[in-house]
Amino acid sequence: MTQAAVADNRVRAARPAHIPEELVRDIDMYALDGIEDGFHEAWKRIQGPDVPDLVWTPLTGGHWIATRGSVIREVYEDPTRFSSEVIFLPKEAGEKYLMVPTRMDPPEHTPYRKLLDTGLNPARIRMIEENVRQAAIDLIDPLVPLGKCDFARDFAAIFPVRVFMAMAGLPMEDVPMLVKLSDDMTRPQGNSPEEVAALLDAANQGFFAYVEPVIRERIGGTGDDLITVMVNGTIDGERISHEKAVGLVALLLLGGLDTVVNFLSFFMIYLARHPEKVAEVRDDELKLRRGVEELFRRFPVVSDARMVAKDQVYRGITLKAGDMVLLPTALGGLDEEENDNPWELDWERKNIAHTTFAAGPHRCAGLHLARLEATVTLQEWLKRIPEFRLAEGAKPVYQAGTVVAVHDVPLVWDVQTTR
Ligand code: HEM
Repeated sequence: MTQAAVADNRVRAARPAHIPEELVRDIDMYALDGIEDGFHEAWKRIQGPDVPDLVWTPLTGGHWIATRGSVIREVYEDPTRFSSEVIFLPKEAGEKYLMVPTRMDPPEHTPYRKLLDTGLNPARIRMIEENVRQAAIDLIDPLVPLGKCDFARDFAAIFPVRVFMAMAGLPMEDVPMLVKLSDDMTRPQGNSPEEVAALLDAANQGFFAYVEPVIRERIGGTGDDLITVMVNGTIDGERISHEKAVGLVALLLLGGLDTVVNFLSFFMIYLARHPEKVAEVRDDELKLRRGVEELFRRFPVVSDARMVAKDQVYRGITLKAGDMVLLPTALGGLDEEENDNPWELDWERKNIAHTTFAAGPHRCAGLHLARLEATVTLQEWLKRIPEFRLAEGAKPVYQAGTVVAVHDVPLVWDVQTTR
C-alpha cells in the first residue's frame, strides 16, 4: 500500500480499491479528536444513527473501525471470519507483537487458554482476596488524613501493580521499567507505521528479555506463584515450550500492569463528579458488589483489532483478507442499541451488555482479578473516604491507544467526613 505524507505530519495510507469513498473517516486511534473532553466522549463522536457499521480510516496504516456494539461482539466471537493473527495497529506494529496466546486462533489457542485459566480462575483469585484487600488498605490509610491525592498517581498506578507483582513473585523495584515498556506497547508515539512498529518491537523484546531469566529459574519449581504455575504447565500433554512460555508470561505482565490501572481512574473521576451515585452504594454492600459489572460497561479501556481472515461481504460491506478491523470497546457498552441511556451509571441495570473484556475465545483471562480489584477499591475507599470530589480546576489527561491511559486525577475531601 502506498503512503503519502500530509501537512499534519501523519502518514495516510492510500484508499484500496474495494473501499468506497463514503466509508472513509479521518480517525486516529492514538490521537482522537476531542479527547481533551473525555476518552469515551471522543469515541462516541463517531457513533450515530446514520453511521455505517464499519468505517475506514487512512491513519495508523489504514484500517476499518467497528462503530456498533453488535459488530464489535460479532467480530470478537468469530475467528473463522476475523482472525487474531494481528491484533495491534498499525498492522506493521501488530506483526512485531509476539505475545502468547493473543495472536492464536482456535484450535491452537485452546490449550494455552486452559493453562491461563488454571492460574487466573475464580477459585484462585478468591484465595488472594485478603492480600488484595490489604494492599488497598495500605495505600488508602495514609491518604485519609491528607484530604487530597492524585488518585491516578497515588493509588491506581500502584495498587493493581502491587497485587500483580506479588502474584507473580516479582520485585516491586522492577515496576518503573515494566511500566515504561507497557506504555510503549499500548500507546507508542510515532508519526508513521514504521516508527510505531519499531517502538512496539523494542518494547516487546524488552518484556521478553526481562521474563526470559525468570522463566529459566522457575522451570521445575514448586512455588505457587503465577509464573511458576504457567511455565510448568502443559500444552497437549507436553510441558509448554520455552519460547511460548516467554510470550505467555510477557502477556500476563502487560495484562496485569496496564489495564486496571487506567480503569480505576475512570470510574473514580465519574464518582467524584456524581456524589449521588456514591451515596447509593456507600452503605449498601450488596448493591456495590452487584454494581461493579456496570462500571466495566460504562468505562471500557481497550481498543484492539482483528484481521479479516478471508474475502467476504460483511453487513453489506466488502472486506478483503488481511484488512484490519479496530474494535473500540468504548463503543460497545456505550451503544444505545445495546443499553438504554448508556451514559448513566445505573448500579442496578439489568441485562448489561458490554465487550469491555472482549467476547469469544479470547475474552479476558484476567477478568476475575480485575473485578476483585475494582470491588475492593470501591469498598475500602468508601469505607474510609465516603465523600470526595475533583479538585477545583481539575482536568484529567487522557492518552488514547490500545489501552487508554489517564493522568492527573486530583481528588479532595474534608478530613472531618472521613472514617
Ligand atoms: C480493566 C481491566 C481489564 C480489561 C478491560 C481487559 C480487557 C481485555 C481484552 C479486551 C482482552 C482481549 C484481547 C484480544 O483478544 O484481542 C483481554 C485479554 C486478556 N487479558 Fe485482560 N483486561 C483487563 C484486565 C486484565 C488483568 C488484570 C489481567 C491479568 C493478568 C488480564 C489478562 C489478560 C490475558 C492473559 C488475556 C488474553 C486472553 C486470551 O488470549 O485468551 N487482563 N483483556
